[in-house]
Amino acid sequence: MGTRVRFEPQGIEIEIKHAVSLLDAARRAGVSVRTRCGGKAGCLMCKVNVDGEERVLTPPSSPEQRKLGVVSTQGLRLACQVRVSGQEGLITVTVPEDPLKALVRRQLAERHNDDSLW
Ligand code: FES
Repeated sequence: MGTRVRFEPQGIEIEIKHAVSLLDAARRAGVSVRTRCGGKAGCLMCKVNVDGEERVLTPPSSPEQRKLGVVSTQGLRLACQVRVSGQEGLITVTVPEDPLKALVRRQLAERHNDDSLW
């Protein structure tokens, strides 16, 4: 049995049996994580929130520590820098909503509310 990785809010769970980056795990699960730098810790667009068993995660890389100021394996991490070991365990990864999608969703909700006044 490998590492179970649960992605929220999508509610998708996959099992990882060999070490991969969290970004690759998300791609395998069909979960979209924004990137621009190709996984070089340059764009900071792949920020996710990680929670669960620390022993299945690599500690923060030097670029993560420098750019995010993180010192813990959990909490805010760069998906391109975290590696999941594939050992037995469970982690939950919360992927923030794409800002453009969030804006469109808010505007549609506001429009719906305005229409209901008439
Ligand atoms: S993909 Fe750019 S910082 Fe992770």
